[in-house]
Amino acid sequence: MTKQNLRIGMLGFGAMGKAHAYAVANLPYFYSELPFTAAIAGVATSSPERAAAKVAPYGLAPTTEAALLADPTIDIIDICTPNICHADAIKRALAAGKHVLCEKPLGISAAEGAELAALAEASGKVCRVVFNNRFIPAVMRAKQLIDEGRLGRILSFHAAYLHNSCCDHAKPAGWKQNADICGGGVLFDLGSHVIDMVRHLCGEFTAVTGMAQIGFADRTGMDGQPWQTNADEAFYLMAELACGARGTIVASKLSIGASDDLTFDIRGTLGALRFSLMEPSWLEFYDATAPGDPIGGVRGFTRIECVGRTPAPGGMFPSPKASVGWLRGHVGSMYAFLDAVACGGTASPTFADGAVINAIMEAAYASAQSGQRVVLEGGR
Ligand SMILES: NC(=O)c1ccc[n+]([C@@H]2O[C@H](COP(=O)([O-])OP(=O)(O)OC[C@H]3O[C@@H](n4cnc5c(N)ncnc54)[C@H](O)[C@@H]3O)[C@@H](O)[C@H]2O)c1
Repeated sequence: MTKQNLRIGMLGFGAMGKAHAYAVANLPYFYSELPFTAAIAGVATSSPERAAAKVAPYGLAPTTEAALLADPTIDIIDICTPNICHADAIKRALAAGKHVLCEKPLGISAAEGAELAALAEASGKVCRVVFNNRFIPAVMRAKQLIDEGRLGRILSFHAAYLHNSCCDHAKPAGWKQNADICGGGVLFDLGSHVIDMVRHLCGEFTAVTGMAQIGFADRTGMDGQPWQTNADEAFYLMAELACGARGTIVASKLSIGASDDLTFDIRGTLGALRFSLMEPSWLEFYDATAPGDPIGGVRGFTRIECVGRTPAPGGMFPSPKASVGWLRGHVGSMYAFLDAVACGGTASPTFADGAVINAIMEAAYASAQSGQRVVLEGGR
């Protein structure tokens, strides 16, 4: 059977454009026997003049949105532009008969979101929002455990997405701090992720009570001029769910010491779960049905090593036992070597480092065989 060759037209090539392009390019490494091939066929950005220079280092072709939509060989439009651009781009893509992948948040109002959802439904096309954190193995395992009833009835939750990016008053506002482009503030940017996480794991929301915070009312704007902050920099939410659970959600860029801290803590009648995106290899699970006697028995939080155990057909590479992030070390290693070849310098660890490791291992074997302490060269 010939594989379907999916051709993707991308809109926007900032942080997320690169993340999506990376994902498409590397799919064959992560999923064995893909039933399709996929490629980014062209990228349109806000500045056609600068697009070529932006995308060329990634082997991608600059183009325009109009060209992508008019091209019948383009199957999918992948929207990685600022939030206010999403709705119109989705409508144009659907009108052109394309499948659509759109970054979060889908729209910038409830009415817009509902309209887009209805259009997607009527189109019959595959339309998805990028709530990527659902696909972390530990989050997938959390969902399984909840669906299996291992938490019993969920009673409470605390979830947060914390960054420190608005703590510095001197830092100029970007578009995510400008409600005219972001559509909202941190509630849209980080809050959408954490609300999706709670809803994905615990179920539908029935009521919310919210409080917004702007840490610094005056900043330097995107044009370098003085500017009044118009978007929340932290948002605090109390939420009620249909299952009866009550909990809190915090989205904040005013959290000094936080890097990319998405966390959840979910408590039920039979068990509890804890997760932190900064330690994504692990899911903590408390099983209240485990024996608590004698002296605590075996009851307590267990760190489940979800690591890279992505369900099939993923999980063959990197090895399922590899921690989330292991592969990044290989990218760094390859970069250090190639940079040394191209630019000169020492590609540490050198062969001399390798030889020392060999000598240590040989001494270790010799010691194991003789039962004697073995002194290494230069040692005493
Ligand atoms: N899922 C995630 O983890 C995650 C993380 C960050 C951002 N996002 C979302 O991704 C989207 C993009 O965010 P980003 O951080 O990549 O932004 P960014 O500022 O880094 O990049 C935005 C890109 O869009 C381009 N652009 C702007 N207007 C355009 C238009 N009308 N047509 C074509 N291109 C246009 C810009 O030139 C730029 O290349 C946002 O919706 C944001 O909420 C998602």
